[in-house]
Amino acid sequence: MKSLVAYYSRTNITKKLAEDIAKNAGADIEEIKPKNDYDGKLGYVRAGKDAISEKIIDLQDLKYDPADYDMVYIGTPVWVSKAANPIISYMKINEGKLNNVKFFTTAGSSGFESTFEQMEKYSSKPVKKIGLTTKEVKKGEYSLEGFTD
Ligand SMILES: Cc1cc2nc3c(=O)[nH]c(=O)nc-3n(C[C@H](O)[C@H](O)[C@H](O)COP(=O)(O)O)c2cc1C
Repeated sequence: MKSLVAYYSRTNITKKLAEDIAKNAGADIEEIKPKNDYDGKLGYVRAGKDAISEKIIDLQDLKYDPADYDMVYIGTPVWVSKAANPIISYMKINEGKLNNVKFFTTAGSSGFESTFEQMEKYSSKPVKKIGLTTKEVKKGEYSLEGFTD
């Protein structure tokens, strides 16, 4: 099975998980980057605002076409109980191509379910979902057994 891991990460937590998933699944990996990044304190404030309004934003060029894959893993941090705008924008751009998906999210503590629900508006129902706290990812306190197979 040909798999792609597509993720966004602002502070490298979701990135760590994405790289682990890609390694386990033998998948290609696409880091989604917004044209206007969310770095720093100002970026943090704009991230919160953009997440609340579910704003679709411009992304940097993508390397891979999800239509070429049997399975697409989509990963995002939780922003105010929603998916990060780069991911929502990626899913919107690729609407109709995301027919076999698994979701993964990271959050400080909460907002996993509402994030998954929002993502489902832009793709088929995910085959599997995993939500981990920042701490669990940092410490490696998780197992991908049953998620990547
Ligand atoms: C704008 C913004 C909003 C956030 N909202 C939430 C939230 O609603 N619930 C939560 O548990 N964590 C929230 N967080 C924390 C992140 O989800 C968490 O730190 C995540 O692991 C960061 O992943 P990343 O390093 O891949 O960006 C928020 C972070 C940002 C920047």
